[in-house]
Amino acid sequence: MNRNQEHLNYIDTVNLGSYYTPEIIVDLAYSILQKNVPSIKDFTILDSSCGYGSFLAKKNIAKRLVGADIDEKAIFEAKKRINGVDFTCQNSLVNVCRKNLVIKNDEKLIAIGNPPYNDTTSIIRNSIKDVSVQDKIDSDIKTRDLGMSFLLSYNKVQADYVCVLHPLSYLIKKANFALLSRFAKNYKLIDGIIISSHEFSNTSRGMAFPILVALYRRDQNGMTYDYVQNYQFKVKDDGFFRLKDFDTIINHVQKYPNKKYLNGNDKPVARFWTLRDINALKRNQTFINSDTYNTVYVLMENLPYYCYIDVFKQYADKMPYFIGNCDVIIDNEKFNEIKECFVAHSVHTNPILKNKFKFREIPDAKLKIDNYFKELLGSKLGEKYAKNFN
Ligand SMILES: C[S@@+](CC[C@H](N)C(=O)[O-])C[C@H]1O[C@@H](n2cnc3c(N)ncnc32)[C@H](O)[C@@H]1O
Repeated sequence: MNRNQEHLNYIDTVNLGSYYTPEIIVDLAYSILQKNVPSIKDFTILDSSCGYGSFLAKKNIAKRLVGADIDEKAIFEAKKRINGVDFTCQNSLVNVCRKNLVIKNDEKLIAIGNPPYNDTTSIIRNSIKDVSVQDKIDSDIKTRDLGMSFLLSYNKVQADYVCVLHPLSYLIKKANFALLSRFAKNYKLIDGIIISSHEFSNTSRGMAFPILVALYRRDQNGMTYDYVQNYQFKVKDDGFFRLKDFDTIINHVQKYPNKKYLNGNDKPVARFWTLRDINALKRNQTFINSDTYNTVYVLMENLPYYCYIDVFKQYADKMPYFIGNCDVIIDNEKFNEIKECFVAHSVHTNPILKNKFKFREIPDAKLKIDNYFKELLGSKLGEKYAKNFN
């Protein structure tokens, strides 16, 4: 199906986030919906970023189907392909209200779909026909990411349920969750399955990141960040994963540039690149030589933790994709038992540390580290993940 949905060039595809959803994922979303909402037939289903209408090609599923997209050509094709859907071409993030979508206030509403996930700071400006598309977004739903704005737009139209795909990072990164506060105040995650971004054939070139096929129900108590941390996420073709099960490095070290927190007596012994999530760690450096706006200054007492992160990076490709947006995970007690091994391994393998420190060789350091990671992943995520460290 994807092959038929390629009328855009690379730049417009990136800007509009036009990565169309494979049928198997559309079916997955509907199976989650059907499991949790007994009477879908009583609802109007809205996909306000419907593309070619993949989520609306279901017959007799709901009372009414409504599709909207900013892309004229996509709507033109969708109309040709699918009957019985009320399609409109519009910017769904501008003047958001039911009236503009021709949905009555008393209609029971499910928002469905795969809105674009696109950090607007990375939008390739001046290349799309309407350069001001992003600027016009209603101020109360404007964020730095189009997908988050879409989530806020479902709150604005007061959908009873929201069944959409979005990066897991929207929920699990505290800063993102804060941007979604209006949504989180009114919606609660009631079901969902994590899939890999590689399930989309045309996005598989980049590093895999976790996408949540999420089902939210409108709920006057909403959900807190603590609720998300305790939520047991299902992983497609796999087990479960819960944020609270992991201790992370940020409970132990400084993550962000810390120059302003150092006092006169502090004598940094090394410099480190700012830590973000595991996927960023895979791309970024660890120890650095230079003083940049991103530098974290490392004090001697914390050096072992930074060596841990440096070694973790070497193992990161063996970690499952679905923890890619988490902070570096750690079992602090077990780490402390063998922290010399991490320091030795890091000092002997990292070119920057090699020239700075002398540290005795520990003959079985590598073996102990392998075992540490085997246990860490095996105990928390299942034996399957331990096998990668043999
Ligand atoms: C990830 S695609 C998904 C399309 C379709 N729902 C599917 O799953 O196959 C995102 C769609 O959002 C549309 N889009 C981007 N910004 C929009 C906006 N502000 N208003 C309406 N549609 C928008 C794009 O044109 C694109 O068709």
